[in-house]
Amino acid sequence: MNHLTTLFAFTVLASSMTACQSTTSESILPVNNNSSVDKQLKQIIAKHRLTGDAMQGRRTSDIESPQAQLGMRLFFSKSLGGDQDSACVTCHHPALGGGDNLSLSIGVAAERPELLGEGRLVDTNSQLNGVPSVPRNAPTTFNIAAWDEVLFHDGRVESLGKTPAAGGNDQQGIRTPDVAFGLADPLSGDNLVMAQARFPVTSPEEMKGFVHETKSNEEIREYLASRVGDYDENHGGLVVPSYWLKQFQQVYQAPTASAETLITEQNIASLIASYERSQVFTNTPWRRYIEGDKTSLSASAKAGAVLFYTSKQKGGADCVACHRGDFFTDEKFHNIATPQIGNGKGNGADGSADFGRFRETGSETDKYAFRTPTLLNVEVTGPWSHSGAYTELEAMVWHHLDPRDEVTNYDITQLSQPNIANLDKIQANTQPALQKLDADRNAGLAVLQSIDLNDKQVIQLVDFLHTLTDPCVKNRACLAKWIPKENEDPNGHQLDAVDMNGDSL
Ligand code: HEC
Ligand code: HEC
Repeated sequence: MNHLTTLFAFTVLASSMTACQSTTSESILPVNNNSSVDKQLKQIIAKHRLTGDAMQGRRTSDIESPQAQLGMRLFFSKSLGGDQDSACVTCHHPALGGGDNLSLSIGVAAERPELLGEGRLVDTNSQLNGVPSVPRNAPTTFNIAAWDEVLFHDGRVESLGKTPAAGGNDQQGIRTPDVAFGLADPLSGDNLVMAQARFPVTSPEEMKGFVHETKSNEEIREYLASRVGDYDENHGGLVVPSYWLKQFQQVYQAPTASAETLITEQNIASLIASYERSQVFTNTPWRRYIEGDKTSLSASAKAGAVLFYTSKQKGGADCVACHRGDFFTDEKFHNIATPQIGNGKGNGADGSADFGRFRETGSETDKYAFRTPTLLNVEVTGPWSHSGAYTELEAMVWHHLDPRDEVTNYDITQLSQPNIANLDKIQANTQPALQKLDADRNAGLAVLQSIDLNDKQVIQLVDFLHTLTDPCVKNRACLAKWIPKENEDPNGHQLDAVDMNGDSL
């Protein structure tokens, strides 16, 4: 089914209808301040205790701080890639919504390591044979400090205390993939973002590469730290030690301390986290609306907000059942049966499926369940879902309303990224999730409901989602603070990204 065509027709129709009612042709501007929809939204905002500020009461960091500045250098440095061809920013660039604009990420072995976003390809002569091999879509790093319970699509970095607004910083500690489910990792650091930052370097396809593939997680981290600090056993002179050492000495105010004591895997993770936690982008039109500016939302977006927060029984879409609070997530796991594309996580008959949260808990109820994503800035964080199967926001919304229909009619031509694996297995790998959803519905469990909306209502929901964008994330000049100036790394390892036209990102 082609929604876009119908959506377009509807927009035109809706515009002309509204134009008749008012003297202006600008159809979707707010009609009047005292409209009943504003009253409805006032009640909704009060009921859900929304403030518009997802960071309220949370520790974040300042991009101008020495820690965040050095963390930014590390985040953009290929020195942390085992084969020196991939950096954190490879898949989390501020100008690409804090992600990579790809359905499935490409880390190591890219044809052109500097080219990010559309046009980024895996080298056909590499061990990866030209196939995007990272099994999941890269989530945004924007507002990462707002998560309190879990990171990753399957929550494998998890606060054991889950204290509200603590970001994982509480007595109970943080579980990571280095320890068994339910245990605290003594090396996790004191927040979820730092705990997470120690893992990309351990993934062969993301950053570790192939030369050091046999090293254990802790071995590769310590090796990379020693290489950056130039105190590794080979003392290979791969980097200019004075560059990093001087910066670490300044940040830690330890002018005579050695590279061995300062440039450690723990400090590297902590600094990177400091940079990531400075990416606060919450000044959205929706927030302004909550703060009292009734003109910051169009009439259509207001109608979408009402649908978003209204239950199915009362004719709404009940999105708030999962996307709740100012950060638009319950941080819980749900099976909504999005199409499974790509390599998968080694699950199912031939290893191309992804069991999601089940992989961590081993509990059948968690099979095919993924973490509810935040919807802040969702306009710029596509492609959407854990495997990036949807490349239009409208399609992602339609999917929620009738997953079986959308999966059955899933159109692979929407994928602009070439060479994605297992496109012939989408149905086989997604049917079990659909069957589980049906079974859970029949058992009366509180799972995704089937909801009947018309095209106009879906447009309204999408219009509402667009009001969750902080304008800064669409403005390169505003983002400049989070992108280091070119050529400051004397080793040439700073990843200065370009798009497929060769223009700087
Ligand atoms: C090859 C692309 C790639 C690289 C390089 C990469 N990431 Fe990621 N990142 C991903 C993908 C894919 C996921 C989701 C994985 C999952 O959930 O299983 C992810 C998840 C994350 C998350 C969790 C986000 C959330 O909402 O839960 C954070 C934070 C993050 N990465 C930060 C980093 C940092 C820091 C680095 C560098 C040390 C890095 N990434 C390097 C692709 C990448
Ligand atoms: C039952 C819980 C639940 C409900 C209700 C729900 N969602 Fe979701 N939503 C999810 C989960 C889980 C995902 C991620 C699925 C995946 O990764 O495969 C998601 C993904 C999304 C995404 C993609 C975000 C991204 O970054 O990939 C959007 C947009 C979205 N939902 C909007 C909505 C809207 C609009 C509604 C109401 C019509 C809604 N959701 C209702 C659980 C829910």
